[in-house]
Formats: sequence, C-alpha cells, structure tokens
Amino acid sequence: MNMTRTTLAVAGLCAIIGVGGLRAQQTPPPAPPAGGHAGHDHAAPAAAGKTATAKLNPTKDSTARGEVTFTQEAKGVRVVGSFNGLQMGEHGFHIHEKGDCSAPDGASAGGHFNPMSKPHAARETADRHAGDLGNVKADPYSMGRVDFVDEHISLDGPNAIIGKAVILHAQKDDFTTQPTGNAGARLACGVIEAGGK
Ligand code: CU
Ligand code: ZN
Repeated sequence: MNMTRTTLAVAGLCAIIGVGGLRAQQTPPPAPPAGGHAGHDHAAPAAAGKTATAKLNPTKDSTARGEVTFTQEAKGVRVVGSFNGLQMGEHGFHIHEKGDCSAPDGASAGGHFNPMSKPHAARETADRHAGDLGNVKADPYSMGRVDFVDEHISLDGPNAIIGKAVILHAQKDDFTTQPTGNAGARLACGVIEAGGK
C-alpha cells in the first residue's frame, strides 16, 4: 500500500516534469522583426478596402451618365463603372485633374490627371498619365461597363484620385494624340468623392 502510493507519487511527478519538458521543446512564437517597417511607405496595403465614388452627370446637350466605384485592393485600385445614354462604340475614359464639373462643357475639370508628368497613352502602358483609363465600349443599347484593376491610381498618396473628376468623352481615345487622345467633347463629368458603396 505504502509502496504503491510512493510509486504513484513518483509517476505523477514524472508526468508533470514530462509535460513541462515537452512544453519547453515547443517552438516559441516568432519575435516581431527588428526595426519594423518604420521609414517605409506601406500606404496601399494599409488602405485596402478604402473606396471612392463618382456620379457622372451629362454635360450640356449630352445624354450620357454613369457611376464609377474605386476600391483600393492589394495590387491597385479596382475600377467598376456603368454608363448609359452613349452612342454605340468606344468613348475615352479619363480622370481629369480638377474636381470641377461646373462648366456646361466640362472644361472646368482641366486636363488629364498627370502627377508624374508622363505622356498620354493607353491604360496598359507603363508610361502614361495616371488618369488614362482607356475607353468605355458602349453596346447597341447605349450602355457601357468597365471592371479592371489599375496600378497607376491610388486612393492615398501622390496619385490619389479623390477630389479629381471622371470624364467620359464623345470619341474614342486613340492613345497617341498628345495630350488628349483626341477623344473629343466631354459627355459626362463626375467628381470623385471618398466613401460610398
Ligand atoms: Cu478626358
Ligand atoms: Zn491622358
């Protein structure tokens, strides 16, 4: 009886030590990286999920209108737009430098948003105005849609588009003519505002 109790007590002690030893062998949680990320600009990932919207209203004598949503994603800004009242075919689609749609012809929105002083070009081109978002293709029902992710624009920092304007043009952007793409008259204009959707 006495012997059994001693054996049990020793066994219990061994079990406690054993568990403690196992715990000690487990990998400790990783230490935070030394120095952290201080001094680096990680604005884009930090702002992921941030949104902005622009409601495009027709300029004088135009029927075009639409809505564009901008959402910051890890790889850039997703641009989703839907438009109507357009003649079938392609229409230049840009961000312009001034968030002012007050002029009847949309001229108050200024030129293409170009914070890096680049030439006018197609959306897929590396060297382009930040505001060069290509063309919107309208179908036979006068409707157009876009949905893409763009790496040039941002909702934060020097390429931030909030407070700028979205313009939809009468003609196709030829991606060549400087500095406008020869996209013609401004059919619809909307100021980009933070938030929404
Ligand atoms: Cu334009
Ligand atoms: Zn341009």
